[in-house]
Amino acid sequence: MTNVYYDARMSDDERRAHVYQGDLFLYSPTSDSLALVALARGMLSEAFGTVDPELAQHTMPVQEFAQLLATLKPRFIHHPECKRLLPGIFASLGCDPEQTYFDVPRLRTATSDDYLSTGIAYAFHPHRDTWYSAPMCQINWWLPVFPITPSNCMAFHPRYFSQGLRNSSDIYNYQEWNRTSRFIAAQQIGVDTRTQPKAQEPVELQPDVRLLPPPGGLIVFSAAQLHSTVPNTSGRTRYSIDFRTVHLGDASALRGAVNIDSRCTGSTMDDYLRCTDFAHLPPEAKALYEAGPPTPAAHA
Ligand SMILES: [Fe+2]
Repeated sequence: MTNVYYDARMSDDERRAHVYQGDLFLYSPTSDSLALVALARGMLSEAFGTVDPELAQHTMPVQEFAQLLATLKPRFIHHPECKRLLPGIFASLGCDPEQTYFDVPRLRTATSDDYLSTGIAYAFHPHRDTWYSAPMCQINWWLPVFPITPSNCMAFHPRYFSQGLRNSSDIYNYQEWNRTSRFIAAQQIGVDTRTQPKAQEPVELQPDVRLLPPPGGLIVFSAAQLHSTVPNTSGRTRYSIDFRTVHLGDASALRGAVNIDSRCTGSTMDDYLRCTDFAHLPPEAKALYEAGPPTPAAHA
């Protein structure tokens, strides 16, 4: 069973426990999430000029579009305002700033009708972030920049939260990926040659669950939740922002979702910064994750 909570009034401790069981949370926009949306929209309109960023794909050569995103996305990720707004979002939703560590927010694009679905606008096949060296305690946060519809959102496949899939996560090591593949994203137009962990058996994608918050509304879910990019047939490019958190107490106590099928190595634990002072996780917490996730176990 997967429960979807809407604007849940519960403590962050309770929420994380539910997330680790596979529950999904939806939140109305907060003042800081709306400010983050405004920041993204402002940067998009600056980059696209008079062209509507959701419709630009219909008039702009794909190379030019990819190049524009390749410049814009890192500028957004490292914008100083993000380091103020993300902790603001977490605080307003009850997270303890001393215990909550976050990574940089990614601005993502899902273009319509396969205009560009590789490289800088990669259309994610069904995956768990835990196949990509994320710790089992990682929590994902996702919000749309413009209104979304069922034909340009993301999808969850919650039956696989408790059902393992044969997959190639054993090929993935985050440290290795950073050294080699990430920086060539913008060159990957047409086909994406980067090796990524994938399911190695048919995935029953339907029925899926599609949550449709308004711009700035948040979806909160476990990194172990199987999710994918919906094939975009809306005629509009979807822009969304996602980021991740790790709770130090959980990380230190090895609390999190049960690992049922992730066999990657390496760890993303060096990416998270404390809300209060942007310090990295303590070395003893990071050390627990260096070898990758614990051995997959039968789901409790
Ligand atoms: Fe993901």
